[in-house]
Amino acid sequence: MNHIFVTGANRGIGLEIVRQLGERPKTTVYAACRRPDSAAELQAVASRAHGTVHVIPLEVTDPAQIAAAKDHVRSHTNALDVLINNAAIDPDDDAQRFGRIDPDVMLHTLHINTVAPLLIAQAFVDLLEASSLGRIVNISSQMGSIAQRDYGGSYAYCASKAALNMSTRGLAADLGRQGIVCVAIDPGWVKTDMGGRSAPLEREESARGLLRVIEHLTRTDNGAYKRWNGHDLPW
Ligand SMILES: NC(=O)c1ccc[n+]([C@@H]2O[C@H](COP(=O)([O-])OP(=O)(O)OC[C@H]3O[C@@H](n4cnc5c(N)ncnc54)[C@H](OP(=O)(O)O)[C@@H]3O)[C@@H](O)[C@H]2O)c1
Repeated sequence: MNHIFVTGANRGIGLEIVRQLGERPKTTVYAACRRPDSAAELQAVASRAHGTVHVIPLEVTDPAQIAAAKDHVRSHTNALDVLINNAAIDPDDDAQRFGRIDPDVMLHTLHINTVAPLLIAQAFVDLLEASSLGRIVNISSQMGSIAQRDYGGSYAYCASKAALNMSTRGLAADLGRQGIVCVAIDPGWVKTDMGGRSAPLEREESARGLLRVIEHLTRTDNGAYKRWNGHDLPW
């Protein structure tokens, strides 16, 4: 796994994934974020990397920027090994409460968390096909599990991740024959802007686990829904 593309790379879990991959001398990371010029931490990670980290602009809802990001990758390599769709939002709890459901909040969340990963996968598929084991990793959430939905609230976020899981299964069926392994992985509850301070997991541990799972993926994992520690999650 030498060429890896990560969205939402300027903070949180995405930044830590890039930092850990950057420690590997033979690895090239395409670290996508909305505003590279103000992504100081990511730029610092890129400058300290033993491998190569390209910081590239990507607002995931912008098709022109998706196309430009793909062109950027293609100018460096003919084959992408891993696409990590990590960027996401989780709007304020109050805006997702039953009684306060706002269609704009729902649709905006679905656009970023569900539609964009699919469009990015669609744009990058030829580069992934050219790898000997291309992988599409959709960073999902336990909150996307319908089987475990025994609590209320978080309508936009939970629906977006359940729909991302469904798209992952579709991608697994469409692309598995071409040798691309498609999975949804929950990073755990992690101390980030999204996860908050009470989260039990540090970013380092989550990212290390995610990368271990991603590295050990085989074709039999195509269509799986896993946790950061490799355990399966119920749909
Ligand atoms: N933290 C947790 O406990 C937890 C639990 C389960 C699942 N997850 C999942 O793990 C992933 C990473 O979460 P995190 O905790 O690291 O979140 P975070 O700290 O809030 O970071 C979110 C990242 O997504 C980017 N992003 C948001 N909207 C974007 C857009 N329209 N275009 C491009 N980038 C955009 C953000 O960029 P800006 O800085 O530009 O906003 C930021 O880089 C997400 O998929 C999340 O759903 C997290």
